[in-house]
Amino acid sequence: MKKTVLLVVISSFLIKSYAGEGMWLPLFLKSLNEAEMQELGMKLSAEDIYSVNRGSLKDAIVHFGGFCTSELISPDGLMLTNHHCGYGQIQSHSSLTNNYLKDGFWAKTRQDELRNEGLTATMINEIVDVTIQALEGVTDKMNLKERQAQIDKNLEAIKNSLIRADHQDIAIRPFFHGNQYFAFLTTTYRDVRLVGAPPESIGKFGADTDNWVWPRHTGDFSLFRIYAGPDNMPADPADENIPYKPKHFLPISLDGVDTDDFTMVFGFPGRTQEYLPSQALEEIVSDLNPTKINIREKALNILDKYMRKDEATRIKYASKFARIANYWKKWIGESQGLVKSKAIDKKKQFEKEFTDLLPKNSSYRHILPEFDQLYKERAPYAIVRDNYNEIAGRNIELMRLVGISVRLASTFENNGAEAYEGYKSRVLGFLENFYKDYDPAIDQEIFAALTDHYAQNVSDRYVPSELKSLGSHVPKNYSMLAEDIYGATSMTSREKMMAMLEGSPEEVIARIKADPAYKLGAEWKAIYDKEVQEPYNAINHKMDSLQRIYMAALMETFPERRFYPDANSTLRVTYGQVKGYQPTDAVNYSPVTYLDGVIEKYKPGDYEFDVDAKLLELYHKKDYGDYVDKKNGKLPVCFIGTNHTTGGNSGSPAIDAYGNLIGLNFDRAWEGTMSDLNYDPTICRNIMVDVRYILFVVDKYAGAGHLIDEMKLVRPKIRLKKKPKIQRAGRETNKLGEQPRKR
Ligand code: ARG
Ligand code: GLU
Repeated sequence: MKKTVLLVVISSFLIKSYAGEGMWLPLFLKSLNEAEMQELGMKLSAEDIYSVNRGSLKDAIVHFGGFCTSELISPDGLMLTNHHCGYGQIQSHSSLTNNYLKDGFWAKTRQDELRNEGLTATMINEIVDVTIQALEGVTDKMNLKERQAQIDKNLEAIKNSLIRADHQDIAIRPFFHGNQYFAFLTTTYRDVRLVGAPPESIGKFGADTDNWVWPRHTGDFSLFRIYAGPDNMPADPADENIPYKPKHFLPISLDGVDTDDFTMVFGFPGRTQEYLPSQALEEIVSDLNPTKINIREKALNILDKYMRKDEATRIKYASKFARIANYWKKWIGESQGLVKSKAIDKKKQFEKEFTDLLPKNSSYRHILPEFDQLYKERAPYAIVRDNYNEIAGRNIELMRLVGISVRLASTFENNGAEAYEGYKSRVLGFLENFYKDYDPAIDQEIFAALTDHYAQNVSDRYVPSELKSLGSHVPKNYSMLAEDIYGATSMTSREKMMAMLEGSPEEVIARIKADPAYKLGAEWKAIYDKEVQEPYNAINHKMDSLQRIYMAALMETFPERRFYPDANSTLRVTYGQVKGYQPTDAVNYSPVTYLDGVIEKYKPGDYEFDVDAKLLELYHKKDYGDYVDKKNGKLPVCFIGTNHTTGGNSGSPAIDAYGNLIGLNFDRAWEGTMSDLNYDPTICRNIMVDVRYILFVVDKYAGAGHLIDEMKLVRPKIRLKKKPKIQRAGRETNKLGEQPRKR
C-alpha cells in the first residue's frame, strides 16, 4: 500500500503531464512523443516530421554555419535565419558607403545575392542508432583511457561502413553522457549567399537592453539562399551554381497564433546539462556564475563608458560588447531563476527519492557521495579556471595576443619551421581583422581593473609574480603597471606587431619573448596550465565517467520516465504551446507583442530604440496588408511559447500543428534562462518573431515582394472552415502543394 502511494507520487513528480520540457531525437518521436504531440493539437504524424524514405519536415531544417539553425522556405533554396546569426556576414559586406547593418540589404535579383566565404549549410540525411557497435568490447573494468580507445576504434569502423552516398559526411556523437551513440549522415553545401536583411533598427531593435527579455519587439531575421552544382549537390562557390532545390520547404501560415496553440521548434540546440547533481547547481549559483558576472560587469562598464563618448568607438566595439553582454545577462537570469524555482532543493529531493529506490546493495549507492567528494575537490580549481578564462582568456585582449604569441613560439620549438609558418599565416589573418576593432586605451583600463580583480580574488599561488605585491595601498598599483606594460609592449600596435613578426623564426621568437606583455602573460599561462588546468582536468575526467554511470542509473531506476538527451548541437524537436506567464506576483505577460509596442519603445536617435521613417509611416497608415492580425487590426511582432530551447536554436522554425512556419526562434525570456539546467514550465519561455512581421518587413517595408512570390503562403485555420483563397496585394497565391506563381 505504502509502496504504491510512493510510486504514484514519484511518477507524477517525474512524468510531468505538461509538454514543454525536452529536446527530443527525431528518430524516436513515434515511440516517445507522437501521441502527446497530437493530444496537444498536432495534425502531423512522426513520419511527417522525420522520415528517411520520403520528404519530411527535417529536409527543410538546415544547420547554419554550424552555430545556428535555418530553414528552407522556397523551392529555390531560400533560407530564413536570425539577423544575429547572419550578423557577421551582413557586417562583412558592409562599408561606410554600403552600410547594410544600418540600412539593411535586399538583393533585387539573384545576381545581386552576396557570396559568403566559409559559410556552410548542412542538412541531415539520416540518423542511425549505433550504440551497440560503438560500445562493443567496452567493459566496466576498463579505465577511462582504455574505454575511450576502444570506442574510438569502434567509431572509425562504423564510419567506414555507414557512408552511403557521394558528398555525404558522418558525425557520431555520444548521448546520455556516453550511454548511447548516434550517427548523423549529413550533406553540407558551401555556396550560401546573402539575400536580404532588415536594418539593425528592426533586426536588432532593443539590442542589449531588451536581450533575453519579454516583452520583446525585435525583427531578428535575415534571408540567405543555398546554391548547388548542376546536379543539385554541393559545389564550391561559383557563378554558374544554381539555386538548390530542396526535398521539402516550409509553407508559411498567415493565420497567426492564439494562446494554447500547438508549436514545435525544430533545430540544433547547442548544450544543456539537465542531469547534473545538486552540487553542480550549488556551485553554479554560489560560485561560478557570480565570478563570471562580476568580471564581465567590470569590463562592460569600461566599454560602455568609452562607447557612449564616441560613435567610432561604439561601432568598433558593438559586436564585442554584444557578445560579452549576452552571456553576462543570461547568467544573471539563470541564477535568479534557479533560486526562485528552488532548483537545488528540488534536485536534492529528487536525489533522495532516487537513493530510496535503490536496492540496499546496489552498486549505484556510491554515486552521489562520490559526486559530493569530487565537486569539493574540484571547487577551488573551478573558480580559478573561470577567473583566468574570463580575464586572461577573453576580456583583456592583450593577453589573448600573448596567448597567440606563446603558441607561435611553442609551435616552432616543438614542431619545427613548417608548422610554425602554417600557424603564423593564421595569426597574420587573425591580426588583419583584430586591430581595426581594437583600442589599446580601453584595453589598458580593462587590464588594470581585471588584473586587480584577479589578484584580490584568487589565491596567491595562482597569481603571476608581477601582479602579486600590487594594490591601492602600495606605491605601485595596477593602473601604474598597466601604464608600464601598455607603454612598452609592441603588441598593441599593428605596425609594431607586424615588425616584430618579421624575419627568421628565431628572431621573431627572441623579440616576442623580450616583450613585457609576453613576460607577464606567459608566466600567468604557465602557472594556470600546470596548477589549475591539469588538476581540474584530472578530476573532471572522473566526474564525466561518474556522470555517465549516474545517467544509466537514473534510466534504470525510473523506467517509466521518458528521458531526453542533453543538447549537443544535434537535430532535435521540442514542442509546447503558445503561452504567457507570470514573472512575479500580480504581473501577467501576454504571449504576443505588436508594432504598437515598437512605437512605445521608440527613442529617436537612440542606438538601441530608434525607428526609421519608413516603418513609422507604415505604422501611422496602418498599412499592414495581409499580415495584420484580423482579430484586432494590429501587426504582430513576437510571441512566446513553452518550447524548450537553448543557444543554437537561434533561427529555428516555429512550426504549427500542420507543418507550416509560424515563427522564427531567437531568444528566451530572462526568468527562464535556467532551462539549460532545470526546465520549469511555469516560467521557461522561448521567444519567436511572428512570421507575419517578417513577411511584412520583406514585402511592405523593403518592397521585396519578389521574395514573397517564391514562398508558399497558406491559411490552415481558415482552410478548416472554408475553401482557402489567399490574397496578397490583390493576387491569388498558391495553395498547399502548388508551385508558387512567378511574377
Ligand atoms: N540572446 C540571444 C541569444 O543568445 C540573442 C543574442 C544576440 N543579441 C545580443 N544583443 N547580443 O543568442
Ligand atoms: N539567441 C540564442 C542563440 O543564438 C538562442 C537563445 C537561447 O539561448 O535560447 O542561439
